[in-house]
Amino acid sequence: MQTPGLIVASARLPVSLTQRDAGWEAAPSLGGLVTALLWVARRRPFTWFGWPGTYVPDSDHAQLRAELDKHGSKPVFIRQTDIEGFHQSFSNQTLWPLFHGRIERTRFDAGGWHSYRAVNDAFAEAIAASAQPADVIWVHDFQLTLLPALLRQRGVTNPVGFFMHTPFPAPETYRALPQREPVLEGMLGADLVAFNAHEYAANFRSAAVRVLGAEFTHEGVRFGARQTRVAALPIGIDPEKIAEMGESREARQELASLQVTYAGLKIIVGVDRFDYTKGIVEKLRAFEQLLETYPRWRHRVVLIQVAAPSRMTVSDYQHLKREVDELVGRINGRYGTSSFMPVVYVNQSVSPARLTGLYRAADIALITPVRDGMNLVALEYVAARAERGGTLILSEFTGAAHCLPGARLVNPYNTDEVAAALAECLERPGTSPEQFRSMVRFVSENTATWWSGHFLGQLEQTAGESRHPTARLRLGTMPLAGMAHKARRPLLLLGDGLLHLPAPGSAEGRPDPRLVRLLTDLASFATTYVVSGHTGETLEEWFTDPRVGLVSEHNLATRPPGGTWQPHVLASSSSLKDLVDPLLREFVRLTPGSAVEYRAAGALWHFRSAEPDHAHLQARELLMLLEEQLKGQPYTVHRGKRTVEIRPEGLSKRHAVTRLLDQYADADWLLVVGDETTDEPMCEAVPASWRDRTVTCAMGAQTPLATTWVESLTELLDELEGLVQAWRRRS
Ligand code: ADP
Ligand code: G6P
Repeated sequence: MQTPGLIVASARLPVSLTQRDAGWEAAPSLGGLVTALLWVARRRPFTWFGWPGTYVPDSDHAQLRAELDKHGSKPVFIRQTDIEGFHQSFSNQTLWPLFHGRIERTRFDAGGWHSYRAVNDAFAEAIAASAQPADVIWVHDFQLTLLPALLRQRGVTNPVGFFMHTPFPAPETYRALPQREPVLEGMLGADLVAFNAHEYAANFRSAAVRVLGAEFTHEGVRFGARQTRVAALPIGIDPEKIAEMGESREARQELASLQVTYAGLKIIVGVDRFDYTKGIVEKLRAFEQLLETYPRWRHRVVLIQVAAPSRMTVSDYQHLKREVDELVGRINGRYGTSSFMPVVYVNQSVSPARLTGLYRAADIALITPVRDGMNLVALEYVAARAERGGTLILSEFTGAAHCLPGARLVNPYNTDEVAAALAECLERPGTSPEQFRSMVRFVSENTATWWSGHFLGQLEQTAGESRHPTARLRLGTMPLAGMAHKARRPLLLLGDGLLHLPAPGSAEGRPDPRLVRLLTDLASFATTYVVSGHTGETLEEWFTDPRVGLVSEHNLATRPPGGTWQPHVLASSSSLKDLVDPLLREFVRLTPGSAVEYRAAGALWHFRSAEPDHAHLQARELLMLLEEQLKGQPYTVHRGKRTVEIRPEGLSKRHAVTRLLDQYADADWLLVVGDETTDEPMCEAVPASWRDRTVTCAMGAQTPLATTWVESLTELLDELEGLVQAWRRRS
């Protein structure tokens, strides 16, 4: 039996290669993604697909492949002509600034996009060729957004998850991206897309709805036939490993040496990958302001800023380097002496053990990104000081700010505020022992192992749900469906969600003429019903052939083939109108593009033409208020696709199906079709005793409630047309 394996894909492998005279040299890659995945790998081994960080000529591929394979790494080599476009350009000059809300730094370059696509394609090729049926595939970060959909295009049906380590910007910002559709479509190839914070997950869902016209679902979004769960799962670290490193010789030496060098001084530490999103300039300005405004701290405090060089081929990073160098020089020039510099600036990568020693020495960690998906340094500082406590001054614009309520949150753009926070925290600890313990608790519980286990658990569950053993509807060939051709008394119950009937309340829309024709044809051979939420009048106007049976307003009344309307529930909406009209009118006023429709026995607020984000929030609010208002009244409130509906108790398509099955108990073949939101109760209503002569079919997505599915109305109509032809030939 195949052991389920885990495949991880990220732009970077854990090591980056450099070609030297003596051959290839490997150095650890930098950044939160690699750090966290290395922690995961200690407890949950996986095969890691990634780029080794440089151009490797074809002649060296085999040797390096073999070498990296020993460490579970599968290199994806990138053509020399694509490196600039993929890495520098589209990843780091388009998506990185845009996703961090820095539209003024964002460059839109078509050449970069072509390379980005080509590299994502190369990843898809490599993974599709090596994935085994039981494998789970986990794609990481903004450099590989297209990969999930490209894997699907290659026929990969394995569970695919996507984790975005960066923020996801507000839809207004995201919409500036010229390639906004393919990037979203790419990510939506995954079964699960997760982010570090709810805010980013919500932005992503809104972008999918606005840009692609996807539908919100309970847990994520639906786009075409594919459901994607969207979640917030903040990444973690490995606190045990950090505690262990803290006891290492290297860490203890670092701590001891800092304690000697800066004896009697307060130590503030900053540790960052060198990036404009990290707010290093803002931090230095605030530190300068501290020395300026609070002179008592001059010569009594040192800021040790470690910044590991990153992306130095990108011009924004080169400019930043000059700016930081100048600022450090200015502060040290103004407030330093020949024997003391207030800013110690280390523009280097430092080993994790030394960093731990540094965290242990620091009274205050000053972390001031202007935007950051999470910021692992904040978590590392807390873990390193679990025993002794400390003070964390943290930008409110980081994902970590959502998880570490004990931190002193600041706005890094507000230099005065950060300087004042520093002065205050230098005077007395800014974080109480209790607050610090609560942060330690978060870091100890939300570890990298827990994070990966939680992500993979959700992925397997989501993928399992969407991979029910349902087949595409094929009426001619499937065993049960094949019975249709021979059936003498077939019964067809068609939910209106699936028939793509026009939006409630929209006067101009009409059903697809092909559907109307086909229903007439079907009704010549089978008892055919449209089971609908629409009013009887509307249905009669659309389906003029009296041989087509109609059920109106979720079982309020039925018009049997060739018959007249028979009511099942005596109801009127006039008393309902008295109860809810002021509230519904208020929501129409506050939600432009929405409308109210009263039916014979209920009411509907629909918002198909409204701005989706606002309308969905309003719908949630209205649902709550209506439930409150109608407590004790004989009505139920339902959330539909773009509707909130009030119905008299007991009205549901489920009851309609139960009744029709009783009435047509001698039917020898049954087809029930519905869409997965509004018509699901129809499939559920079919009792076990009917199973051997029933085909249920859902549209849009595979659901456990239906035995077959179709992707679109056209596909369904093609199948039904085939059936009509078979019946014609028979008669
Ligand atoms: P990002 O993902 O943007 O790089 P994070 O703060 O989430 O930011 O992660 C950075 C990781 O890199 C942390 O694990 C941190 O310890 C490490 N790191 C940051 N600065 C340095 C440095 N100067 N030398 C070595 N490692 C560093
Ligand atoms: C951040 C990103 C990573 C990226 C790293 C280094 O941590 O989230 O995806 O790998 O920065 O950036 P680089 O451009 O050197 O890969």
